[in-house]
Amino acid sequence: MAAGGWGGGDGLRVVTQGLTRRYGRGVMALDGVNLEIGEGLFGLLGPNGAGKTTLMRILATLLPPTAGRATVGPYDVRRDQHEIRRILGYLPQEFGLYRRLAVGEVLEYVAGLKGIAPGRRRAEVDRVVEITNLGDVRRRPVGALSGGMKRRLGIAQALLGSPRLLIVDEPTAGLDPEERIRFRNLLSELGRGRVVILSTHVVADVESIALRVGVLNRGHLVFSGDPEGLRGLARGLVWELWVPDEHIDRITRPPQSVHPISTRMMPGGAEVRVLSPESPWGEGRPVEPTLEDGYVALVLGFAGDAAAGQRGMGGTPYPQAAGGPAPGGAGGDGGWR
Ligand SMILES: Nc1ncnc2c1ncn2[C@@H]1O[C@H](COP(=O)(O)OP(=O)(O)OP(=O)(O)O)[C@@H](O)[C@H]1O
Ligand SMILES: [Mg+2]
Repeated sequence: MAAGGWGGGDGLRVVTQGLTRRYGRGVMALDGVNLEIGEGLFGLLGPNGAGKTTLMRILATLLPPTAGRATVGPYDVRRDQHEIRRILGYLPQEFGLYRRLAVGEVLEYVAGLKGIAPGRRRAEVDRVVEITNLGDVRRRPVGALSGGMKRRLGIAQALLGSPRLLIVDEPTAGLDPEERIRFRNLLSELGRGRVVILSTHVVADVESIALRVGVLNRGHLVFSGDPEGLRGLARGLVWELWVPDEHIDRITRPPQSVHPISTRMMPGGAEVRVLSPESPWGEGRPVEPTLEDGYVALVLGFAGDAAAGQRGMGGTPYPQAAGGPAPGGAGGDGGWR
């Protein structure tokens, strides 16, 4: 089922318009999200509870939207579930595995579920085992794999059938640094000729590999554009300063307008990096922001105005949902209580 019924060449696009999802009466998990995602790797960032999994489940046709529209190429997530599933690979955030089956058996089983013809299953499993470097553990029971290998198996099953749309929800959670890097490279390669949507709240995971990034916060899409644009949101807001021991309360109990990003304790004081609209205590040295600074500035509301009117792909302006990120709000609690 290589590319399903999809003619090659034409770029696949995933588009959402006013996409909204409410759970019960209370939680607005997604609120009027307008997004356009083309081929390549799209990094979906956002704190816990921002709505990332909800958006991915809707695109994977596993959850219907409450309002608005989402399309994958010509297909609508409500109407054309079957067609979308034929071109989809999905790695859910919580991936249940068959612990007693061997790696190869799991993959053959999933290949069957995906409708790959029996005669082609073995070759297809060989292919994804090779890509994800699982050859050595092919006969090992899933229950005996390390966390990193399990994540690789998760990716391997998502790759069966060469999906044109690959959705991976927090694929790097729980990986060690080395495995993380390997994963990043693999995903960046997979972005060629297909749409890959990767969610994470670890900015470093998408830092050098995402062509585009989107930031969700409390159900609102607060940024969509290239990583450089996100980084730029913190320009002029990042400072370093030396805080001597006698003023250490400046960072342990900072004023509303100062958000410490990192602190390096040293004899006699601390070297501190902060977000602040102006030079903190008149003592800050301005520094170049990182992508993470841009993300943090946005989610904490430091860059609220700067982010408004950000332009996304194809020059489509993405209207800011009313309110946007709350100034000074801690973000990240997202309603898990
Ligand atoms: N089945 C559900 N029933 C009720 N509320 C839900 C359900 N699933 C998610 N929510 C709520 O919807 C909001 C968005 O959740 P979602 O899982 O999409 O966030 P997320 O960005 O994926 O978070 P995380 O980074 O923790 O995975 C949260 O407030 C969450 O509590
Ligand atoms: Mg999630």
